[in-house]
Amino acid sequence: MRIFSGIQPTGALHIGNYLGAIKQFLELQEKEECVFCIVDLHAMTIPYDPRTLPKNVLDAAVCYLASGIDPEKSILFVQSQVTEHTELAWILNTVTPVGDLLRMTQYKEKSRQFQKDLNAGLLNYPILMAADILLYQTEVVPVGQDQQQHVELARTIARAFNHRFGPTFVEPRVSLPKTGAKILSLTDPKKKMSKSVPPSCLYLFDEPEIIEKKIMAAVTDLGREIKFDPIKKPGIANLLTVYSQFSGLAIPKIEKKFRNKGYADFKKSLAQVIIEALEPLRKKRKELLSREVYVREILSQGAKKARSIAQSTMEEVRKKTGLV
Ligand code: AMP
Ligand code: TRP
Repeated sequence: MRIFSGIQPTGALHIGNYLGAIKQFLELQEKEECVFCIVDLHAMTIPYDPRTLPKNVLDAAVCYLASGIDPEKSILFVQSQVTEHTELAWILNTVTPVGDLLRMTQYKEKSRQFQKDLNAGLLNYPILMAADILLYQTEVVPVGQDQQQHVELARTIARAFNHRFGPTFVEPRVSLPKTGAKILSLTDPKKKMSKSVPPSCLYLFDEPEIIEKKIMAAVTDLGREIKFDPIKKPGIANLLTVYSQFSGLAIPKIEKKFRNKGYADFKKSLAQVIIEALEPLRKKRKELLSREVYVREILSQGAKKARSIAQSTMEEVRKKTGLV
């Protein structure tokens, strides 16, 4: 089975990225054919500095590898190094209704945020994402909940293309984790943890002191009971989810452990659980930061492998669409 997913090289990875997406990658790479992509072309749709993009891309690669993506098992590459992504995106533009793009939740949010200089890339973002996915004849796309709508649109686009030009693409389906598909903000547990709101984030590579500080300061709910109730106690429910995911303990077990204890005890223990679980990742990252040549070589080998799959899909697409 072919798996594809992408992460933007914009800012550090947070525990939402890890629990929503990366943990799925780690399981899938053990048995399936996985392709993971650093989507630098998507990162251009919001204001950015061309001088820092190369460093951010390399950082993203280091973080992926430190989190456990194994280049012996998975293909890891940079989107702009395989030009077929933009070529296919153009062609998919011609089978995608504008109305479908206008109703995307992420577009609605971002177009509000960047009202003053709204670029067409922000609207067409899901088409490039569909091209990423369809180029590799992907069956399953592991993502967090916020990307589900985009994967469903990629499926619709595949179907529209196949209908118009004959069977060409696999129709991909989304994979969400059973728990952790939407990790909430530490400062406002009604919203998701998001790279674009730094105070909301607990970063994967935060140092232990910072992890402790952020967890102790995390916004929680009225009362003092440690109980999983996402409606009445979204803050505590979110922290219980994180606790469970990093410790491997089921939520009822954790509730029991902290019965008759307060939020402070719970948070202290949670910080320790996270610090310990992430220790090997922090170590691996530090080691990789001093091995830039090695990381670049992985990306270059990854691009070679990705290109060979992408080129064979594009050859068929060109034939089917009369571009010969
Ligand atoms: P991004 O950081 O937007 O490039 O997202 C990378 C991956 O992490 C995507 O699969 C997202 O769906 C997932 N993700 C982002 N934020 C969260 C969150 N708060 N909870 C769970 N998954 C998330
Ligand atoms: N849009 C995704 C995000 O912001 C990143 C992404 C780009 C992606 N192309 C993809 C995810 C293809 C899955 C499949 O998180």
